[in-house]
Amino acid sequence: MPSLMRTDKFVSEQLGISRTDAKKLISSGSIAVNGTCVTRPEHKLSPEDDIVTRGGNRIVYREHIYIMLNKPQGVICATRDGLSRTVLELIPPELRRNGLFPAGRLDKDTEGFVFITDDGDTAHRMLSPKSHVSKLYYAELEKEAEDDYIAAFENGLVIDGGEKCLPAKIEICPDRHFVYITLFEGKYHQIKRMAQAVGNNVIYLKRIKIGGITLDERLKPGECREIMHKELAELYTL
Ligand code: URA
Repeated sequence: MPSLMRTDKFVSEQLGISRTDAKKLISSGSIAVNGTCVTRPEHKLSPEDDIVTRGGNRIVYREHIYIMLNKPQGVICATRDGLSRTVLELIPPELRRNGLFPAGRLDKDTEGFVFITDDGDTAHRMLSPKSHVSKLYYAELEKEAEDDYIAAFENGLVIDGGEKCLPAKIEICPDRHFVYITLFEGKYHQIKRMAQAVGNNVIYLKRIKIGGITLDERLKPGECREIMHKELAELYTL
């Protein structure tokens, strides 16, 4: 039998608001369980089986949430920052949850796919080098890419400071300023430092795929959508 949960815990977790605000919402008479208004925060409900509504709109229960964000330049991958806007500030109210965080980072000037979740286990597994979750980037280079980059990337580049990278893949487009790079790890400024190691510079960078999940082309910079459970299984495929 699914376990029962207090109404204030359910409302707070699912709407991403504090327990105090959840209690206020409940006492104001906005929350109904199976069509009956509930005003006691301690009322027990079944998250899996009961239908909870706020002002008539269903609050669909999810244990965890997984979000695909198309990060614009100028926004940082952190949960809080005094100066810059963070990726969490771009999450619309209907997807907000307590405990959301970006799993992995992109630089402030990098665009593209950021995976945001409140599920620490999945994030940990996704980020662990043992999982070999690939990340695909599109990069524009200052100078044309040379054919010998392919072998250099495959052999594992040594970047500044003597750090050795895992083997990576680079695909050179017909216009040799444009390349696709696949990494299986995430070192600080890794692609920029790899480009420097072969005598080049990155002038634009966008992450377009994590594992088997491709950034939704319909998302404009700054927009996000939920990743469905079916898609999540693709995370660990190449
Ligand atoms: N490599 C970089 O240099 N920057 C990023 O944001 C991601 C990968």
